[in-house]
Amino acid sequence: MAALTARQALLRALGTELPIIQAPMAGVQGAALAIAASNAGALGSLPCAMLTVAALRKELAALRAGTDRPYNVNFFCHTPPAPNAAHEARWRKLLAPYFEEFGIDADAIPAGPGRAPFSAESADALEELAPRVVSFHFGLPRPELVARVKRWGATILASATTVAEARWLEANGVDAVIAQGVEAGGHRGIFLSDDVSTQLGTFALVPQVVRAVKVPVIAAGGIAHADGVAAALALGAAGVQVGTADLLCPEATVSAVHRAALKTDAVQETALTNLFTGRPARGIVNRLIREVGPISGAVPAFPLAAAAIAPLRVAAESRGKGDFSPLWCGQNASGCKETPAAALTRELARGLES
Ligand SMILES: Cc1cc2nc3c(=O)[nH]c(=O)nc-3n(C[C@H](O)[C@H](O)[C@H](O)COP(=O)(O)O)c2cc1C
Repeated sequence: MAALTARQALLRALGTELPIIQAPMAGVQGAALAIAASNAGALGSLPCAMLTVAALRKELAALRAGTDRPYNVNFFCHTPPAPNAAHEARWRKLLAPYFEEFGIDADAIPAGPGRAPFSAESADALEELAPRVVSFHFGLPRPELVARVKRWGATILASATTVAEARWLEANGVDAVIAQGVEAGGHRGIFLSDDVSTQLGTFALVPQVVRAVKVPVIAAGGIAHADGVAAALALGAAGVQVGTADLLCPEATVSAVHRAALKTDAVQETALTNLFTGRPARGIVNRLIREVGPISGAVPAFPLAAAAIAPLRVAAESRGKGDFSPLWCGQNASGCKETPAAALTRELARGLES
């Protein structure tokens, strides 16, 4: 597909003025950032991975009240693991010195699921509003759920981190593929393998995915300014998805320790780590990552790792420290500015002109 045609196809599928997607970012934003991005002509996204169905309904009502433009709702679609007492015990043993340091009773920490995948209940909540775009991370939900989303006419997007994943997503019904380079902040969308050595940078991934699939390709990972947008388009992308650059926007709900870290040179040192949830995600290297190492075999399956970390995070944050917080951030934080999402969108859109 020629670049211009792919961009037109993407704009038709998204219903937006601009082929720019404000990346869904669970835990650091709600409807406000999505509304600001959508009203500026981009596609705003509501991350739903950490919302209960009641909270999802509330955020959807806020979205509807805040914009009459298209928006995206985003879900994880992992298979929840069966709790495993031996794995949990191994993980808590590794964290024991930290529990002791903060006076936390490890036996009193509740095991929590943390993040729920897309389900029939999520589809029920969405169906009334029939959002124009639904995006998925970690593959796709069961075929009958994909078919349900398609029945209300939604455009389906999903992240691919390899050429094989892009082909799989196209074969399983997505309308456009988000090619997520390894530079990206937050969780890797990886789903056909759990080997992080398979992960490609945006510059290598995007042109190969463009050649491999017929659907439009959206570039994600490391895009922070207009020049990055222009580069992604030059590689054949029909549009871009930008996350990290939005983190200091006033409409985001980034925690104080996370915001503070984003404003320092700490952003120069990020790593892929599985410590916070059990799946690889990119964040700023902090004390936990430095002392345990970014990838640990002692971590329970996603998303169960998060429960034991939660009280450490609370304790450290109450002392003003992000030592145990997931400080998600991509490799290019140079676009992070305390500027409204509308202004950021306008700056990125300049890259569409060249
Ligand atoms: C703080 C943060 C949270 C994220 N959470 C999600 C999420 O909930 N769902 C998702 O599909 N992608 C998530 N991502 C990944 C983004 O969709 C996107 O791939 C990434 O932000 C693009 O790279 P960049 O951060 O370099 O712009 C997250 C990224 C960040 C930075």
